[in-house]
Amino acid sequence: MQTEPIQAKCKQFCRDFFTQLNAVHIDHLERKWIAISIIIIALLVGIIVIDAFFHGVNPPSKVETIDSASLHLSKEFAEENLGVQTDDKGNVVVRMVAGRYSFFPKHIDVPAETPITFRWVSMDVLHGVHIPMTNMSTMIVPGYVAEITTTFPKPGEYPLLCNEYCGMGHNHMWSNISVIEKEHWTSKQNTPVPAAKGGSVNE
Ligand code: CUA
Repeated sequence: MQTEPIQAKCKQFCRDFFTQLNAVHIDHLERKWIAISIIIIALLVGIIVIDAFFHGVNPPSKVETIDSASLHLSKEFAEENLGVQTDDKGNVVVRMVAGRYSFFPKHIDVPAETPITFRWVSMDVLHGVHIPMTNMSTMIVPGYVAEITTTFPKPGEYPLLCNEYCGMGHNHMWSNISVIEKEHWTSKQNTPVPAAKGGSVNE
């Protein structure tokens, strides 16, 4: 077969390469620095790999396209479909539109300690979105859907910041997300609750 000559060539190439490498004089201090550089590179690559697989820090690279000019006509991002929804499998999905200079809908309530899938689109120019203390940091490129799944560990108000320069109002483009306790959020969604026992009458 043809594989044998290729293997032989590869072996010969490796042999030549290492013979030449051994012939080169490398100062021992230089060897140390080469080793340190390789360790640093391995460490950085390791951090990226661990983040990608265990912390869910990934580029939003599903390359899902959408027509930014007709978002209001598209089923998914029509005005009545924006905001928080729970799909039939019980996953929480948030659909939001970024536009100069705000995020729409302006305010949402999401549960804490629950994986939430955000689907972002832009209606005009390039925006970004960053929520400190979470893995939410992505560009929102016009024409594409940016999808990120994140979990809010604690209830509270989380800022939502635009982190891509999008025009004169860029530094005013921010809002808040209310993260509320899991139990409280669930009960809020399931209105109207049948009044059986003397349950939660908080409001
Ligand atoms: Cu939107 Cu900066």
